[in-house]
Amino acid sequence: MERTLVILKPDCVRKELIGEVTRRIQDAGFRIRALKMVSLSEKEAEGFYAVHEGKPFFESLIAFMTGGPCVPMVLEKENAVDDFRALIGATDPDEADEGTIRAEFADSIEQNIVHGSDSPENGRREVAYFFPEHEIAAHS
Ligand code: CMP
Repeated sequence: MERTLVILKPDCVRKELIGEVTRRIQDAGFRIRALKMVSLSEKEAEGFYAVHEGKPFFESLIAFMTGGPCVPMVLEKENAVDDFRALIGATDPDEADEGTIRAEFADSIEQNIVHGSDSPENGRREVAYFFPEHEIAAHS
């Protein structure tokens, strides 16, 4: 079964949308295999988003992601990566399809409520970044 790493971002937590977004995730057939609330250090956020280092939005993104707690989770489903990206919509909420999580709840391309891995390979890397294998449930 494919896994994807999801982060309910600090704007999602601040707006008290953890429950609403998690409900939609479960209603869409994803199984939650791991979940925790964490406050990322600058180093942790920079490591996670290392691929974006040097981009004009990088520093602002790190400030946003370290500005409050967030909720990383491991989701499992067939075709989890692509199906999750369809559920949340485009990075920029103005371009996200109607009914998607970002279209409904996100304020901006940066403060876009939720992160989802963009490939199965990155999914494996990102899952391992937040969760050692023994913290991931085999069934739930
Ligand atoms: P995410 O899917 O977590 O991957 C990288 C994040 O960088 C993205 O969601 C946004 O939060 C942010 N991001 C991507 N592009 C931009 C941009 N052009 N301006 C500001 N933030 C961006």
